[in-house]
Amino acid sequence: MIEVGRLQPERWEEYRALRMEALQSDPTAFGSSVEDEVPLSEAEWERRAENTLFAFSDGKPVGMIAVVTSTRQKTKHVADIFGVYVRSSERRKGIGKILLESALKEIAKNPDVEKIKLTVNPEQRAALELYRKAGFREVGRLRRELKVGGRYYDELMMEKHIRA
Ligand SMILES: CC(C)(COP(=O)(O)OP(=O)(O)OC[C@H]1O[C@@H](n2cnc3c(N)ncnc32)[C@H](O)[C@@H]1OP(=O)(O)O)[C@@H](O)C(=O)NCCC(=O)NCCS
Repeated sequence: MIEVGRLQPERWEEYRALRMEALQSDPTAFGSSVEDEVPLSEAEWERRAENTLFAFSDGKPVGMIAVVTSTRQKTKHVADIFGVYVRSSERRKGIGKILLESALKEIAKNPDVEKIKLTVNPEQRAALELYRKAGFREVGRLRRELKVGGRYYDELMMEKHIRA
């Protein structure tokens, strides 16, 4: 039974464990690395968890998606999605789709937001398909944006307009 919701701040270590698992298992999917995030403080994990929706299986977090909206006048109509991850043993069961749909529903409640953007390494086929199916369109390609283990990866910029 999958449930989607927030993680209480006192459970921040479960969030850190899932995030470290993501960065280790899929290093080419994220701009950040384990080395970048090991030094983060408890307060920083709690702050990040506030922006994150989790998928719980039997009460344990197995997937997540982060949404950030700006408070700045000129960009408060744009929401950013990032940090999308589902534990590999739980994939292809619809959890990624449920997480993305939940995030889109939450974003839609904010009347200021008109579009959502994200970037994805096109070699992450599952993620790319997930976003395409949810109505995200490719609007550009950042070449050699990531360098992992001496190899370069492009990133596609995608966006979805929700009030056009
Ligand atoms: C991307 C990810 C979150 C998808 O999670 P998931 O729970 O397996 O996704 P779902 O089961 O909800 O699948 C949703 C859709 O994604 C696509 N998809 C999922 N896995 C796929 C695969 N292996 N190959 C191609 N398409 C795939 C399909 O279109 C699928 O729809 P369908 O089941 O109707 O065919 C997961 O694969 C993951 O964590 N990948 C590694 C991290 C990553 O790439 N994150 C994105 C960073 S931008």
